[in-house]
Amino acid sequence: MRVAMIGTGYVGLVSGTCFSDFGHDVTCIDKDASKIERLKKGEIPIFEPGLDELVRRNVEAGRLQFDTDLTQAVRDADVVFIAVGTPSRRGDGHADLSYVHAAAREIAAVAQGFTVVVTKSTVPVGTGSDLEHIIRDAAPEADIAVVSNPEFLREGAAIEDFKRPDRVVIGTDDPRAREVMAALYRPLSLNAAPILFTERNTAELIKYASNAFLAMKITFINEMADLCEKVGGNVQEVARGIGLDGRIGSKFLHAGPGYGGSCFPKDTLALTRTAQEAGAPIRLIETVTTVNETRKAAMGRKVLEALDCPPRGATVAVLGLTFKPNTDDMRDSPAINIVQSLLDRGVKVRAYDPVGMHEARKVLPDSVIYADGAYECAEGADCLVIITEWDAFRALDLDRLKTILKTPTVVDLRNIYPPADLASRGFKYIGVGRGSSIAV
Ligand code: UDX
Repeated sequence: MRVAMIGTGYVGLVSGTCFSDFGHDVTCIDKDASKIERLKKGEIPIFEPGLDELVRRNVEAGRLQFDTDLTQAVRDADVVFIAVGTPSRRGDGHADLSYVHAAAREIAAVAQGFTVVVTKSTVPVGTGSDLEHIIRDAAPEADIAVVSNPEFLREGAAIEDFKRPDRVVIGTDDPRAREVMAALYRPLSLNAAPILFTERNTAELIKYASNAFLAMKITFINEMADLCEKVGGNVQEVARGIGLDGRIGSKFLHAGPGYGGSCFPKDTLALTRTAQEAGAPIRLIETVTTVNETRKAAMGRKVLEALDCPPRGATVAVLGLTFKPNTDDMRDSPAINIVQSLLDRGVKVRAYDPVGMHEARKVLPDSVIYADGAYECAEGADCLVIITEWDAFRALDLDRLKTILKTPTVVDLRNIYPPADLASRGFKYIGVGRGSSIAV
């Protein structure tokens, strides 16, 4: 089948490339000419494990093309995906749909024959109907069906998630569109991935409901962690104990510094706005968004409290800056708030991240000093803070760390070390929600 993918951001590039790997003929389109030039040369503008190899393979096979102009690709396409950005609108927290609307108008102007237009971008419920109106106004003769097909890709595991999804959700009432989408995803249905056909509004809601539920799960365990610290208890064991109940499930129960990234903060906010305006507020998620924001600031205070010296002039070594491992993405990373609250109190911040430092430099204050590695970062510091659980930080040489830190204090915001390992070596170790096992 012929696919046009509009937008070569994270979602568009990964999805387009994976569709081509299934044997479809895919053109990825972006207005950013320099990005398209780079992609044509095989340079991948984002960090995603395995993506460069997959792009190269499919470009070589002639199944994956890149273009700045959508005309030809859309004209030829059976399916056109809209995978452009939907950032939070400044002021009201709603998703900004201007790029999605503009893409729909451009598609309407050039589409030929029956064309299925699919929203891959995360869009609020009702957007599919809006797009249908926009397209009808722009090109009354066009034979176009608008379908919702939300993505559930995790950064860092996006290819695996695309190829072996828990489910594929397709929202449409149009039988012809349903047939086209079923054919597009046939390679996955052979892998026994459940393909769930729903009404379009329902599909749009499923995406927001999934992200909101996951954000709620994380926030729940984070608050349990706070309680463990106050009353004594180990949040990891609580998570295991409740997660073994099949109704709860063990995933997404890792306590930490609060969720970040390009999806959860933005989507939870957008869902609460939609729900408020519809007169059916989702108070649980309103609380989740507030608690998560508060948590990031609280993590800065946690580090300050761990210091055995006055903050002004102290040096804190920060390991991990990205919102999670295996990505260079700094969007809404808890590290931003933590670093800022340390700097506000006169702390010198030295930081290291295996992949994210280039992006970090764009968003963190200039006074942050960057180190070339974990040990360089720790050298002479009054405290070491682990913010992101990169594998490279999981097996640090603790004896070496002890000798190079000025004060052997470790604040482990991801609970990647057993407290006893550090305590037996004379560290002051502070994890998250392991109140009874904090050893000094
Ligand atoms: C998320 C969804 O998982 C994905 O389905 C959706 O399409 C996009 O948003 P992503 O943002 O890439 O994906 O990251 P994810 O792995 O879900 O983690 C999100 C945040 O939650 C990270 O900051 C992570 O550190 C945090 N998290 C996750 C926890 O703090 N604890 C957990 O148990 C899980």
